[in-house]
Amino acid sequence: MERQRALSGIKPTHLPHWGNYFGMIEPAVELSRECETFYFIADYHAMTTPRAAEDSRAYSYQTAATLIAAGMDPQHTVLWRQSDVPEVLELSWLLSCVTGFGLVERAHSFKDARAKGVDINFGTVGYPVLMAADILLYDADLVPVGKDQTQHLEMTRDMVGYFNQQFLGNSGHDADGVWSGKGLKRPEAVIRDATGVVPGIDGRKMSKSYDNHIPVFGNPKKIRKRLMSVVTDSKGLEDRKDPDSCNVYALYSLFANAAEQEEMSARYREGNYGYGHAKQAVFEKSQEYFAPMQERFENLLEDQEALEEVLQEGARKARLTARPVLERVRDLVGLPAPRGFVGMAN
Ligand code: ADP
Ligand code: TRP
Repeated sequence: MERQRALSGIKPTHLPHWGNYFGMIEPAVELSRECETFYFIADYHAMTTPRAAEDSRAYSYQTAATLIAAGMDPQHTVLWRQSDVPEVLELSWLLSCVTGFGLVERAHSFKDARAKGVDINFGTVGYPVLMAADILLYDADLVPVGKDQTQHLEMTRDMVGYFNQQFLGNSGHDADGVWSGKGLKRPEAVIRDATGVVPGIDGRKMSKSYDNHIPVFGNPKKIRKRLMSVVTDSKGLEDRKDPDSCNVYALYSLFANAAEQEEMSARYREGNYGYGHAKQAVFEKSQEYFAPMQERFENLLEDQEALEEVLQEGARKARLTARPVLERVRDLVGLPAPRGFVGMAN
């Protein structure tokens, strides 16, 4: 049987944090042992929030270096920067023409932006459509993402339905979900339940946009300081505590094996174990966990030219996969066959 193709993306808006690592990066690396893998830096998506051009460039390299340091081997994984394959924008447009405004209006990202009461840019409205195009342009089977992306994946599947109904006159899939090879392929999300949504230092979803994140790589003193400010209830040292409702314990569980979790859980319930102790344990475990990657990360960042070459080679491979898909789509919707793509001899 042919290997399944897994695909995922990460926005270069900051140095990747623990939520990114356990929600997406580590599961994606694990999938690369059994699947054909396509992973990219979602730099177009990052544009929905304006930032200095220099920062955008630097974050793309830092994110790429993190992915490689974490074990995404560019020899076996197609690793590229989204904007190096601009064909994705064409598919995004075609999808937007079969997607009702009602669908995008229901997106959490759109609702959050609206709730802030600020003017919403059109990129934010189209965000889930571009994300669907990212996935569908490569006929991906599996999409490893964090739990917060569940809705975006559902929307992608809906868009496959709209598109196939419109242009094929059917769903393009049989009753068992097997794709006919025509139209667009419906992907599946791969979500690691054990990780769930990683809490940030304020207890909400860890996210750069809430400034509650803990970076994977960085100055240990600063990381420790952030950890020490994780919110907990106000129980004192001697009180018995509930691990299951505690953010510190949730963070510890990311790094600890079952026996270690059991041990900490028992200490919580017994009392005479303070949140400060638990935070220190998380700090030590996390340093130990990321130390081997940190060195690789630093070495990779030192040679930006080599990193750029890796991304260019990835973009070349990604485009080889994307191009026939776009040709199939253009033919189906009645657009002329492409006569050449940006940066590629026909
Ligand atoms: P952020 O939310 O910080 O901007 P991204 O949107 O770039 O991060 O997320 C990249 C990947 O990391 C996605 O698959 C997303 O689901 C995952 N992810 C981000 N934050 C968390 C979190 N707190 N818990 C679990 N997964 C997360
Ligand atoms: N929207 C995702 C996030 O915020 C990033 C992303 C963009 C993505 N395109 C994708 C993830 C395609 C998976 C597949 O985390």
